[in-house]
Amino acid sequence: MCGIVGYVGKRDCAEVLIAALSKLEYRGYDSAGIAVFEQDQIHMSKSKGRLADLSAKMEREGTPKGFAGVGHTRWATHGEPSDINSHPHKGGEHVTLVHNGIIENYKELKQRLIDAGRTFVSETDTEVVAQLLDSNYAGDPLAAIAKTLQEVRGSFALGILFNDFPNQVYAVRRESPLIVGVGEGESFIASDVPAILRYTRDYYLLEHDEIAVLGENGVKFFNMQFQPLEKKLMTADWDMDAAEKQGYDHFMLKEIYEQPEAIKKTVLPRIENGLPDLSECGITPENIRDFRNIYIVACGTAMHAGMVGKYVIEKLARVPVIVDIASEFRYRSPLIGEGDLIIIISQSGETADSLAAMRLAKQLGAKTLAVVNAKGSSIAREADMLIYTHAGPEIAVASTKAYMVQIAVMYLFAFELALSKGQISEDECRRLTAQLLKTPELIAAILERKEELKTISEALLEAESLLYIGRGLDYALSMEGSLKLKEISYIHSEAYAAGELKHGTISLIYEGMPVIAVDTQKALHEKTISNIKEVKARGAKTILVCGDSYQPDGDIADFCFRLPEMEDDQLMPMPAVVPLQLLAYYTAVLRGNDVDKPRNLAKSVTVE
Ligand code: M6R
Repeated sequence: MCGIVGYVGKRDCAEVLIAALSKLEYRGYDSAGIAVFEQDQIHMSKSKGRLADLSAKMEREGTPKGFAGVGHTRWATHGEPSDINSHPHKGGEHVTLVHNGIIENYKELKQRLIDAGRTFVSETDTEVVAQLLDSNYAGDPLAAIAKTLQEVRGSFALGILFNDFPNQVYAVRRESPLIVGVGEGESFIASDVPAILRYTRDYYLLEHDEIAVLGENGVKFFNMQFQPLEKKLMTADWDMDAAEKQGYDHFMLKEIYEQPEAIKKTVLPRIENGLPDLSECGITPENIRDFRNIYIVACGTAMHAGMVGKYVIEKLARVPVIVDIASEFRYRSPLIGEGDLIIIISQSGETADSLAAMRLAKQLGAKTLAVVNAKGSSIAREADMLIYTHAGPEIAVASTKAYMVQIAVMYLFAFELALSKGQISEDECRRLTAQLLKTPELIAAILERKEELKTISEALLEAESLLYIGRGLDYALSMEGSLKLKEISYIHSEAYAAGELKHGTISLIYEGMPVIAVDTQKALHEKTISNIKEVKARGAKTILVCGDSYQPDGDIADFCFRLPEMEDDQLMPMPAVVPLQLLAYYTAVLRGNDVDKPRNLAKSVTVE
């Protein structure tokens, strides 16, 4: 999604804005632009394409020189990616701004402004806010912002320059995240922490309907009644290294390799005497044991982590778990209410659909538990209970380490819940927890075998389409494997419950079609093998991901990747997802794709 940055200080503003925007590239974008005060004039440069295209344009046409300005990477929503639709947008004589989010009532506002004699040059909803703000401006920026916010609906963050106030940057947000960084004699705005880490780790979180004014004398905050606000300074616990590639070809590969460490950071602090202890997250045996139903609601990969959670929680704690896609949950009159728990899983903590689902569940009387990676994000702040995953910044659009720690948390939670309900004994809980603690070592060993997966990925390169199949937890894992492959390799793939194939989908199998079969659950092994035989008999090229004790009979598998087995195969999704991630990664690399920034995708999906 769009990225906003802004700067006021003593450095070359254009340089800072471009460097900061480069750290937001991971969010996904298709055009970029900056606006900088040169003395008391605002100079703009914007371009369709990547930041490199913008830099090339500035080299040709001149780079704005000055010490205050705003910058933007745009992920097109209203209007195609083009120079004209790129931000910043001018609103007339007084206002230039950048915007992240959606203005829902932009059509009616635009008509009103046209009727009042204003003309528009772009197709964006952003230009509508710029023009509205300009029309509301009568010399006082705060008053103009407050009036404008009364008139616009939607979720947005804005970085604004007023011509009459050179070297000041104004910022305001509703729903869409925005932080305000502060350093020695300089200040920043940004959509996300990595943008400012090169300059400072200290920042404020701008809350809903708060205004920040960045000037030569520092930052001031105001509410909509123009009263000054005191805000809590936060310090990012990531450093620059965490947001750099550190010698890896891609962030995705680096993040896959960071998984053992991420599990340790997430799990170890939550173990006490060999048992899970989530009390620092507001979770105690007393406050979780009586829930009637558990809903796990999330999007994409996070929802797949929820699928693993469902199997494990239902099996161990014997509580019904309903997993829902956040964008569906809120529009189907969910039966959730008092006595239920909703678990929202989100790496970014800002996914619009997940946030809305959580708010709805809360309104209906359910307790909310957030499993979130990004500190201080909206979902983290609004939940009743909160388990932070400690994956560190995840930059690649394709989520890997965040998924890993999300499932690690699902296990911790399931163990604690099962124990609190008396469904498992303390000894059993200790045994399971000890298994969980072994996963970093197993995963490290799998990572050493990446070349095997690179070789297998060659078999996927030319596929038009492929299937992932599995049963039980392996089906949950297949969903994630399939999503990973399609989002970065652009090869169509579907995940199917292996036993369901013969009810229709098996008709898709053609000679040489790759089918990736995940088979790590001993109790389901024979059934899964039968399903693999069914596709093999119809010409599929089979790639089997299975436990190392399994000896495939005959020629059932064209390729086989054996995994170190765990004493309890309930925990196999953790090691077993790694070969699926690496297969997707190498397939995308070999196809020459932009692995970290796949086409059409955004890292943090802050629009519905
Ligand atoms: O930030 P979130 O975890 O809420 O994001 C949810 C999905 O958008 C995300 O998992 C997406 O599916 C990833 N690109 C998958 O790799």
